[in-house]
Amino acid sequence: MNRKDLLGLRGMPRQEIELILSTAAAMREVGRRRIKKVPTLRGRLVVTLFFENSTRTRTSFELAAKRLSADTLSFSVNTSSTAKGESLMDTARNIHAMSPDAIVIRHPATGAPHLLARSFPFSVINAGDGINEHPSQALLDMLTMRDHWGSLEGRTVAIVGDVQHSRVARSNIHGLATMGARVLVAGPGTMCRRELSGLPVERRHCLDDVVAEADAVMMLRIQRERLGAAVLPSAREYAAFYGLDLERMRRARPDVLVMHPGPINRGVEIGAEVADGDRSVILDQVTNGIAVRMALLFLVLGGQEGGDDAS
Ligand code: NCD
Repeated sequence: MNRKDLLGLRGMPRQEIELILSTAAAMREVGRRRIKKVPTLRGRLVVTLFFENSTRTRTSFELAAKRLSADTLSFSVNTSSTAKGESLMDTARNIHAMSPDAIVIRHPATGAPHLLARSFPFSVINAGDGINEHPSQALLDMLTMRDHWGSLEGRTVAIVGDVQHSRVARSNIHGLATMGARVLVAGPGTMCRRELSGLPVERRHCLDDVVAEADAVMMLRIQRERLGAAVLPSAREYAAFYGLDLERMRRARPDVLVMHPGPINRGVEIGAEVADGDRSVILDQVTNGIAVRMALLFLVLGGQEGGDDAS
């Protein structure tokens, strides 16, 4: 892969997505060893810079870097100091002074990773920029689906809930469309607006309209932190129309995949029995996240040129 940064899946060619997924599949083997480490990125510095909360994404990028023997440094920034582009640039200048090879950034503003990528020589990986993109999440989602189906071509994926404010949804929509899958979206009017029709999706009204058709159902958390003054439905009301419970699962295909990027709100967008049920691949998504992030670090840092490969 010939790119310095990984900022989003919009416009990324199919061959490149395929390369990332097959590299990730190969990386998984490292995680199954007793000694889960290869020397591929020895001596390289990967910095995680998170201006928003995260559990899975940050830890899995750090674990991915460690499995490739890179050094890791984790910057936590208080969200209250993030509003101004200047403070982001100042932080980045300070990190730059420490000679990092890659920065993994999560920021509430769309385009923050792109700004760093343009301004600095280190590689930038977008770990979520506002409502825009979260490419590593969509890649791990696609890897999880590919494990079950072999190919994404011709498959139907339903994305349900707060699609409007979800960077996970946006990255998946771009990636899945490129890979030849059909994407259905459903959610309340304020969370799944008509403007989405500018994206390659088919919009439906409610969960019942998509559940029977889908090969995979991806449930989303309501992004309360991004909803502003919008009126929120009560948890009960929301679950009644958009919650995936056992009752609705009866209408789904027997081999449907139930997905969720986390964090889960049990009893709101997904019932506990479904989240823990036999169609759920939610924890496989987490495991695949490490492999995908190893692949991304390896590919943007040109690991193969160092002489060591992943094996
Ligand atoms: C997602 C995110 O941060 O966009 N979480 C994640 O990375 N797994 C989804 C969410 O916060 O709901």
